[in-house]
Amino acid sequence: MNVRDSEHMIAELNNKEPYELTQELSEADLIIINTCSVREKPVSKLFSEIGVFNKYKKKDAKIGVTGCTASHLGKEIIRRAPSVSFVLGARNISKITEVVDKKHAVEIDIHYDDSTYTFGEYRTNTFKAMVNISMGCDKSCTFCIVPATRGEEVSIPSYLIVQEIQKAVDGGAKEVILLGQNVNNYGKYFNADQEQCNFTELLQKISTIEGLERIRFTSPHPLHMDDAFLEEFANNPKICKQIHVPLQSGSTSLLKDMKRGYSKEWFLNRCEKIRTLCPVATISTDIIVGFPGESDEDFEDTMDVLEQVRFEQLFSFKYSPRPHTKAAEFENQIPNEMASERLTRLQNRHTEILDEVMNAQMNQEHWVYFDELKAAGKISGRSDDGKLFFVEGSEELLGKIVKVKVNKVSRGALEGTVCA
Ligand code: 5AD
Ligand code: SF4
Repeated sequence: MNVRDSEHMIAELNNKEPYELTQELSEADLIIINTCSVREKPVSKLFSEIGVFNKYKKKDAKIGVTGCTASHLGKEIIRRAPSVSFVLGARNISKITEVVDKKHAVEIDIHYDDSTYTFGEYRTNTFKAMVNISMGCDKSCTFCIVPATRGEEVSIPSYLIVQEIQKAVDGGAKEVILLGQNVNNYGKYFNADQEQCNFTELLQKISTIEGLERIRFTSPHPLHMDDAFLEEFANNPKICKQIHVPLQSGSTSLLKDMKRGYSKEWFLNRCEKIRTLCPVATISTDIIVGFPGESDEDFEDTMDVLEQVRFEQLFSFKYSPRPHTKAAEFENQIPNEMASERLTRLQNRHTEILDEVMNAQMNQEHWVYFDELKAAGKISGRSDDGKLFFVEGSEELLGKIVKVKVNKVSRGALEGTVCA
């Protein structure tokens, strides 16, 4: 989401005057730090980063802080770091041109409606386009700061999404990644008199776009994975067979404290349904350990779900208390060492599972969409089910979907040769 927001800001700035991107700090006239605040670590890093930028930047270069930390700290950022020129919240990024030249401007209104904004015309990678379909989140998971930083959920009208994807396809993209905090809740909140369209219907509309070959999306919510959606996922050949199903915890009682709206059984039932309808699909997840009150049994429930579903990718985190969240006020916070031990156990077991999954890939064949040139004569891309591939090759493979046979496996990526 933040990567796309950064692209959007670049596009907006370029509409005002031409900018050139640089990786050289000492060359930059404008430095934008686009921040996350989902856990505490990136927030504390922000101020040390500002210090580093101040030391090495050009004398008159401006620093802007944008994104979720900007939303929740607001003018506090300028108080703590007066060298920051402007602060722009995650919900307000399309207003970048209004704040860029205003000293100490702070724009963080989360009620700002930019659901009909013009999508930013800048793309880091022309082969795969990230396209927002909704903004904000209507849930109130007790650990999560996002509803406080990105505001209420609103869906972008489907005709605008289709138009935007068509543009990306005309520009060479064969793949689209639909973005939203809770994509499969799409269509619940439109502004004004918008049409009725849920996420399954949106997927159907998008898949009629000629020239578009692959559709990915992130993140769906397990609660909204109804049968119609899972059937569309399984049966629509343009939808990539990779799905993120964020578990958070395997314990039904903890899920209740987290206000996730589903039980361990529902989660397992949805994963089983995915496996039945679509045996080739890979499932990834997010897990938090050390949520307040997490008992040994709660944690064992999480380990049990890992064992049963055998997630291909796992994003796992120690619970981090966040401002504006209910869970930060809960008593029975878990000691850090206990959370660390649990995280290590979870990650170690996942690594074993991943090794088994990846080793079984030897000699398998996949259709890989090549989208990036790498060093040393390599090119990278992803299989339909989301596996990262590195293959020897050059420009002639860029933007092509080609069959590849795996000849080397590792935890994070596969290598292979193009099939004749
Ligand atoms: N502490 C730890 N992890 C969190 N996440 C969200 N909020 C917190 C928090 N307070 C994780 C969730 C979410 C992912 C994006 O970040 O697992 O799915
Ligand atoms: Fe946060 Fe929950 Fe919304 Fe995801 S669904 S963004 S975890 S509040």
